[in-house]
Amino acid sequence: IRCMSTSTEKSKTKYSLLDNASNFLTNVLSGGKIGSMPTAEGAITDLIDRPFFFSLYDWFLEHGAVYKLAFGPKAFVVVSDPVVARHILRENAFSYDKGVLADILEPIMGKGLIPADLDTWKQRRRVIAPAFHALYLEAMVKVFNDCSERMITKVDELLDGEESGGRNIIDMDLEAEFSSLALDIIGIGVFNYDFGSVTKESPVIKAVYGTLFEAEHRSTFYIPYWKLPLARWLVPRQRKFRNDLRVINDCLDELIKNAKDTRQEADVEKLQQRDYSNLKDASLLRFLVDMRGADVDDRQLRDDLMTMLIAGHETTAAVLTWAVFLLAQHPNKMKKAQSEIDLVLGLGKLTLEALKKLEYIRLIVVESLRLYPQPPLLIRRTLKSDKLPGGYKGSKDGYSIPAGTDIFVSVYNLHRSPYFWDNPNEFEPERFLRKKESEGIEGWAGFDPSRSPGALYPNEIISDFAFLPFGGGPRKCVGDQFALMESTIALAMLLQKFDVELKGSADSVEIVTGATIHTKNGLWCKVKRRSTT
Ligand code: HEM
Repeated sequence: IRCMSTSTEKSKTKYSLLDNASNFLTNVLSGGKIGSMPTAEGAITDLIDRPFFFSLYDWFLEHGAVYKLAFGPKAFVVVSDPVVARHILRENAFSYDKGVLADILEPIMGKGLIPADLDTWKQRRRVIAPAFHALYLEAMVKVFNDCSERMITKVDELLDGEESGGRNIIDMDLEAEFSSLALDIIGIGVFNYDFGSVTKESPVIKAVYGTLFEAEHRSTFYIPYWKLPLARWLVPRQRKFRNDLRVINDCLDELIKNAKDTRQEADVEKLQQRDYSNLKDASLLRFLVDMRGADVDDRQLRDDLMTMLIAGHETTAAVLTWAVFLLAQHPNKMKKAQSEIDLVLGLGKLTLEALKKLEYIRLIVVESLRLYPQPPLLIRRTLKSDKLPGGYKGSKDGYSIPAGTDIFVSVYNLHRSPYFWDNPNEFEPERFLRKKESEGIEGWAGFDPSRSPGALYPNEIISDFAFLPFGGGPRKCVGDQFALMESTIALAMLLQKFDVELKGSADSVEIVTGATIHTKNGLWCKVKRRSTT
């Protein structure tokens, strides 16, 4: 879902958002069935000039934690309550599918986990989730380090160049740098392919960005033009899209073939215990192919890889972008973070042990995800009628909803809910160290770190679904620990060596949203070597 804030396309874009969602509605909600639900009557003016999820937030404060958003005859239900989110995502998860999201992503990800039908999903999730086992994640620490090191070297070299000209500062779009970094990491970590995008361009890199761009565009365009007969041949951007997909698919096919040609059969447990320190290829693809019973067809494997490439790339880049954006506005917190890094690492390397000691950096990462969740909305559609629980502010009894209801679980609203967070819009990484009492909120168990003992990062379990950075229930992100460790390491390595300030004011950084929340023109920063004082 995207709301762009520029150009004459404005109102078209706003309509497109809604039409796109509602074009796929199998059932338009009838006022009779959920008639008692508070209704936000959307007007185009509500949506102009700012991202869509901002308006959803205002309506949440006005209408309560579950409301119907109606545009003319079209409607969908917006959920901003942890108990209802827990019901949809976990307790009654199999009564919902991905609805409009699956329609948009299926042409790109095929039967990958995100858009997959339930049967395929069950089978592939059982295979893919174990691939993110502890030793794999440990092995990835080196990949996160090596790739972050490339970015650091690049900044170092640019500064060297400036220093020879008497300047000690450079302007950099850190969002673009984080995007390259995340692409390199996902390539090596998932299918042992080094895009090398921090330092160079290539046709495959261009194709990946082209595909991501198209995925975003599809979620904003007001008719699903790619479904029209002949569109794939006649519409130029569709031809480009097909070409981009072909380039990536050829690359993935080649990697799959190589992995299969060198396959060594073993059972899952053995694979999970293998010595990654001596393994040249620690990738997920290696694991998936080596796994006993992994005679899965190449097409499915390719869909799985493509899904992880798309799901794990921009999301992580966005976390790093907003973490820097927030830190740059809070120099004291930046200094506190750097002090922790100095204490734990000095000038040394980042190991898994060190990562465990970097508590403040880890909390900065999760606090950034709280304020800028990626994606800001989770999309679902009811497969059969359901009864949403009540008990929150606004409804004691809950609501019945018919099959075919389209739902947005607004993670953004949950994460900034004044009912569950103190100073919800403030950047306070320390907040996760405080325990919130749960009194007064029916059905919600409150924050309790003891519910998830040993977890390195706060999660949906300790917050009883008030904090949902990776979703929850059976469709929860499989790459959560991978992404969190990656972000922590990259951020720590950047701050270890450099001071970062925003180039302009924070207000000048315009927000746009597609699958993720990102900036309109990049996160332009001034970067310099850290002062020793
Ligand atoms: C699903 C967030 C990184 C792979 C999800 C979901 C969220 C999410 C919220 C649930 C979507 C839903 O319920 O509709 C994030 C964020 C990331 C991140 C914020 C980075 C900070 C990654 C990485 C990978 C990955 C690195 C893979 C290497 C997936 C997959 C799913 C998923 C395959 C679908 C799971 C399923 O349906 O079974 N992610 N993700 N993600 N994510 Fe991530």
